[in-house]
Amino acid sequence: MKVMQFSRFGVPHEVVELVDVDAPGAPGRGRVNVDVLASPINPADLLNMEGRYGTELPPLPMTQGAEGVGRVTAVGEGVDNVAVGDLVTPPARGLWREKVQGPARGLVALPAAADLMQLAMLRANPATAWLMLTKYVTLEAGDHVIQNAANSAVGRHLIRLARASGWKTVNVVRRPELVAELEGIGGDIVLVDGPDLAKRVAEATGGNLPKLAIDAVSGSAVQRLAQSTADKGTVVNYGLLSGDPLMIDARETVFRDITVRGFWLAPWFAEATPQEIGETYRFLSEKVLSGDLHVPVEATYDLSKVADALRHAAKEGRSGKIIITMNQD
Ligand SMILES: NC(=O)c1ccc[n+]([C@@H]2O[C@H](COP(=O)([O-])OP(=O)(O)OC[C@H]3O[C@@H](n4cnc5c(N)ncnc54)[C@H](OP(=O)(O)O)[C@@H]3O)[C@@H](O)[C@H]2O)c1
Repeated sequence: MKVMQFSRFGVPHEVVELVDVDAPGAPGRGRVNVDVLASPINPADLLNMEGRYGTELPPLPMTQGAEGVGRVTAVGEGVDNVAVGDLVTPPARGLWREKVQGPARGLVALPAAADLMQLAMLRANPATAWLMLTKYVTLEAGDHVIQNAANSAVGRHLIRLARASGWKTVNVVRRPELVAELEGIGGDIVLVDGPDLAKRVAEATGGNLPKLAIDAVSGSAVQRLAQSTADKGTVVNYGLLSGDPLMIDARETVFRDITVRGFWLAPWFAEATPQEIGETYRFLSEKVLSGDLHVPVEATYDLSKVADALRHAAKEGRSGKIIITMNQD
């Protein structure tokens, strides 16, 4: 079977290779085999291939692809939560391959009628948005939450999940042409980032300042979010899109008691119970089925064209995600 891999860190579309490896054998106890159908290219994939993700470099060669959708083709002894033919989020990382094998723990059957490309993007970004909204601050109806990179997939999910819960969003983007679009999907306030952000947030919220700020950009953007947040508020940093160190003036932490936290989804899968993981994905997949959770897709590429897909995904100002597809014939 075909597998994407890279053997050195560098420009993703230059270091990528397509190789043939053996398909997984029969699954053992508690394990399943899955044919991968689709997997998006996320910013973390590009960062990892460049050698800029996590706290230490992973061993090479490595296969990229952290989330996706696939169909169960075989189940091992003792597996009763999914069956052959079910759509699932494949239970392994390194999904830019045709087939994977992994543990059945926490897997749920996804709604067969849901949009396959949206299901491919279920594992990371919707859960990230939902956990950041609920894990750090208890929000009440009418409370504001502010986020930057608000047109990202995480940002769009956060807008829709917050609205469904009665929380209002202040959405910060870096391109003015996105304002109307994000208002159109339910963003309550949409502002273009800039040095006077805090003043504009105070005006737009009528002084009902956000208790929670969600940052994907790092660098000086963190300071602008902190300034826009209520005293004793919490800034949750979950991305490093600018590539700059996280910057916050000590006056925000010392005199205004702003707390800065970091969020990473990966440890949650080990820390949460299988029931909690199952419930979270049942809740989120129902929202995908109903169309409440939806992010635009700009293009899909077959796995054989993975280098073209990576070149496309690295472009700024895209209108949607780039998705790699497999086993679609
Ligand atoms: N911590 C976690 O567990 C976790 C989990 C999932 C995702 N993430 C992170 O979430 C972030 C968004 O991921 P995604 O898949 O939702 O992204 P995406 O849909 O691919 O969109 C990328 C976003 O990044 C913005 N951007 C890129 N470079 C930027 C910069 N230098 N300054 C400001 N904005 C910049 C883009 O703005 P334009 O449209 O203007 O180019 C766009 O809004 C990424 O940082 C990703 O690593 C973290």
